Amino acid sequence: MITGKYPSLRLRRNRKYKWIRRLVRENDLSSNDLILPIFLTEGKNKQIKIPSMPGIYRYSINMLPRVIDKALSNKIPMIAFFPNTPTNKKNNFGSESLNENNLVCKALRYAKRKYKNEIGFMTDVALDPYTSHGHDGLLKNNKILNDETNKVLIEQALLQAQMGCDILAPSDMMDGRIGEIRKALDKNNHTDVQLLSYAVKFASNFYGPFRDAVGSKSFLKGDKKTYQMDFSNSDEAIREVALDIKEGADLVMVKPGMPYLDIITNIKKKFKIPVFAYQVSGEYSLIKNGIKNKIINENAIIESLISFKRAGASAIVTYFANEVAKKII
Ligand code: PBG
Repeated sequence: MITGKYPSLRLRRNRKYKWIRRLVRENDLSSNDLILPIFLTEGKNKQIKIPSMPGIYRYSINMLPRVIDKALSNKIPMIAFFPNTPTNKKNNFGSESLNENNLVCKALRYAKRKYKNEIGFMTDVALDPYTSHGHDGLLKNNKILNDETNKVLIEQALLQAQMGCDILAPSDMMDGRIGEIRKALDKNNHTDVQLLSYAVKFASNFYGPFRDAVGSKSFLKGDKKTYQMDFSNSDEAIREVALDIKEGADLVMVKPGMPYLDIITNIKKKFKIPVFAYQVSGEYSLIKNGIKNKIINENAIIESLISFKRAGASAIVTYFANEVAKKII
């Protein structure tokens, strides 16, 4: 509501100095808001650059403390693991996803033993890092099978829960998987394991560098438009979230991030559930390269992250997590 008018009313008065700008600031970013994704690779003493993501590496398990210790001292509450599965372990069915000695399982065991509950660990439930066709589900006659995929996802989820995962994050966009996974978790005494549903995941053009990082890019046949959402839609996002909440999601994710701030706001307003946002790899690399090439300055990072807070996100998965947290704690 506006009372008074120019020239007696001047909104610029509240912007006069930094101290008053700080006092009237409506949203803040803290390390409490950040989730750090970490890419895993086989081998020992490995820290491998990812060319399409400047400043981001794949770590072998024994090198994890390098990055997790940093996250801890930066007061980051949670890590998300993503595996770069060796090509010879990928097949049509993504069966490596059910191997208790796959990269994610090994990382979970190692990290939970070392860090206990000092920091949270989340993992993706989806088959794309493990399939030779790069899809999140089982592929048959050029179709992604829904119900058959769910059966594998349940096994994958149970295995990760058994390894100590705190938050399972199904990112596959199959119908009905949240309910089925919740049921299986409860039946197997994993009632405390949380489900963060990638309830709203768009078939986006911003995932390129991630697919590079997990090594699925060159394998991906076609696109993911028959299961991930059409980026023109917003009412459909509400339906997705409503269903996942009903099926037992504790938290919901919107992905990608900045092009979808309207979706975050709509969900937050309607459901009052914690909404997490994923600032995805393409967003990261665009900003990072912009800074490297002096097209934008590095405060653009905080500006991008605050936009999620303004939109209503509780937390943000971002490859900038360590870099930013260091500055703001
Ligand atoms: C797949 C998955 C993707 C990302 C996280 N999990 C990519 C995809 O759907 O192809 C993307 C993350 C990013 O781009 O940073 N289950």
